[in-house]
Amino acid sequence: MDPVALRPITAADRDTLLRWRNLPDVRRYMYTDHTITAAEHEAWFGRLGDDPTRQYWIITAGAQDVGVAHLSQLDERHRRCHWGLYLAEPSSRGRGVGSCAQLLVLREVFERRRLRRLMCEVLATNAAARRLYESFGFKAEGVLRAHVVKAEGPVDVISLALLREEWLATRSELASRLVQRGLSLHPPDWATFDPSEGP
Ligand SMILES: CC(C)(COP(=O)(O)OP(=O)(O)OC[C@H]1O[C@@H](n2cnc3c(N)ncnc32)[C@H](O)[C@@H]1OP(=O)(O)O)[C@@H](O)C(=O)NCCC(=O)NCCS
Repeated sequence: MDPVALRPITAADRDTLLRWRNLPDVRRYMYTDHTITAAEHEAWFGRLGDDPTRQYWIITAGAQDVGVAHLSQLDERHRRCHWGLYLAEPSSRGRGVGSCAQLLVLREVFERRRLRRLMCEVLATNAAARRLYESFGFKAEGVLRAHVVKAEGPVDVISLALLREEWLATRSELASRLVQRGLSLHPPDWATFDPSEGP
């Protein structure tokens, strides 16, 4: 498979993001089901650039843009944040791209930003996303009962978190697992890391 990378979003991605976010097969996994209007999207996109608590990337596989990953609620005081991702087209799912993107996000959060705690939330009905998170060591910390109202009614949400020390303890094994599956990431030196390096 083509190497998976993250690149920061730019103004040129604005229309793609609206189209992706409104795809039925993306919307169904998000907290809100409604079709996002161009005006709503414009306002959201405009706020992104000025918001130091959020960061968005396009997930790429080779030359192709395939999805979105983001950090939110970046909190320097407590050294923690939330994250999430989606792959826009179902055809790009189930092939390891989500695992590669997750590894790159964990490197950014724990190795470059040196945060302590990374959190995420997943609809209780979303087995694939929960499996993705737990396969990298995220632990369920609670069930937010009937937390969101979807078209089909109230749905529980699972809250998960991973700590920096847990990531450092399993990092090499997780990286090897991706290599064994024939997956690759960009930049190519992603598999080497000395936790004692850096600020
Ligand atoms: C969730 C998502 C990002 C996962 O990415 P992906 O590339 O499909 O996942 P991977 O192929 O890397 O697989 C990750 C793990 O999930 C498992 N998995 C994948 N699809 C699955 C499915 N439909 N049901 C159960 N487990 C599944 C894989 O077996 C793998 O576990 P393993 O490493 O123990 O074998 C992707 O499916 C997606 O974009 N879904 C729609 C949007 C979404 O749900 N976003 C998350 C919101 S919280």
